[in-house]
Amino acid sequence: MYASFKSIGAYVPQKRLTNKDLEEIVDTNDEWIKQRTGIENRFIADEDESTSDLAYKAAEKAIARSGLAKEEIDAIICATITPDFFCMPSTACVVADKLGIKYVTAFDISAACSGFVYALNIAKAFIESGLKKNVLIIGAEKLSAIVDYTDRTTCVLFGDGAGAAVIGASELLEESVLDIHTSSDGAYQDFLITPGGGSQNPCSQKVIDEHLQFLKMKGNETFKLAVNTLTKDVTRILQKNDMTSTDVDYFIPHQANFRIIDAVGRKLKFPQEKIVLTVAKYGNTSAASIPMAINDWYESGKLKQGDLMLLDTFGGGLTWGSALVYFNQKDS
Ligand code: ACO
Repeated sequence: MYASFKSIGAYVPQKRLTNKDLEEIVDTNDEWIKQRTGIENRFIADEDESTSDLAYKAAEKAIARSGLAKEEIDAIICATITPDFFCMPSTACVVADKLGIKYVTAFDISAACSGFVYALNIAKAFIESGLKKNVLIIGAEKLSAIVDYTDRTTCVLFGDGAGAAVIGASELLEESVLDIHTSSDGAYQDFLITPGGGSQNPCSQKVIDEHLQFLKMKGNETFKLAVNTLTKDVTRILQKNDMTSTDVDYFIPHQANFRIIDAVGRKLKFPQEKIVLTVAKYGNTSAASIPMAINDWYESGKLKQGDLMLLDTFGGGLTWGSALVYFNQKDS
């Protein structure tokens, strides 16, 4: 039995935050943001809307499209760096409750922007070992909760959203999650970090006064590392599977910055029409970025059952990963 990508779903909050809106908040401008990142817009959750609310709405769609009954889901993995609660309960448990699914393995994972690919890897292992039959994986983020809207170097980059997929089983290789590679290098832990609020620097007045509960990023250093690491990782997974960019139907990278995607796409010789781009619409939604992009391409009628997707991601940790996945949603 192979693990198989049976369905996709996503949810985007209603409230739009444009580059023009950000000009009113920090010392930035539309031209700088577009030129340096490709971002034009992002969506922000309401104050009373939490990560689990976004995740739940994405998950409902993915389950409906999988054709399965909710009771057939036997594991829920939520990738997020913005859980509903600090420490516990996990967002996956909250989502399970919202979905009305009881007695299910449910847990969160933390791999920042790489979270969805990491979750896919765990789902693949669960299914191919026979431990689970249908795993709901979710990438969901309310990044607006950890973004410092006085810091122009980060606040223009991030948005909220969620994407979810049901991973089931298939006997056919051409319906499989063909291969995944995930990795990390903790030596770069300070490139992307929320320095306050954890056990190293627990919540205190000092943490709040110094804005240490918010996301900090060494953008330029991260940029260079991202381009090199992603190019190497994608080359490696293609070579390992005896493939080139021509065998791939869609290259679906993490949507952090158009310039990173463009540089990696050029180095790997992907034609424009094969590169999935949603960064202009949503900004960087961390773990939600790849499933939201898959969902966009599916809903616009471009992504069809049987298409080979090459997923590729990079984020805090530092973590990264790539995956070759046949899209196997039957109604597409
Ligand atoms: N508006 C106007 N000017 C700005 C802004 C802004 N919003 N932000 C920074 N600047 C200024 C800087 O102050 C700097 O000015 P200076 O030259 O006078 O000092 C100048 O613009 C250039 O700044 P850089 O940081 O060098 O700009 P760069 O071209 O590197 O772009 C960016 C910054 C967009 C953050 C880019 O480095 C990037 O995308 N990095 C990678 C992000 C990434 O991939 N993260 C991983 C995933 S995220 C996750 O895991 C949660």
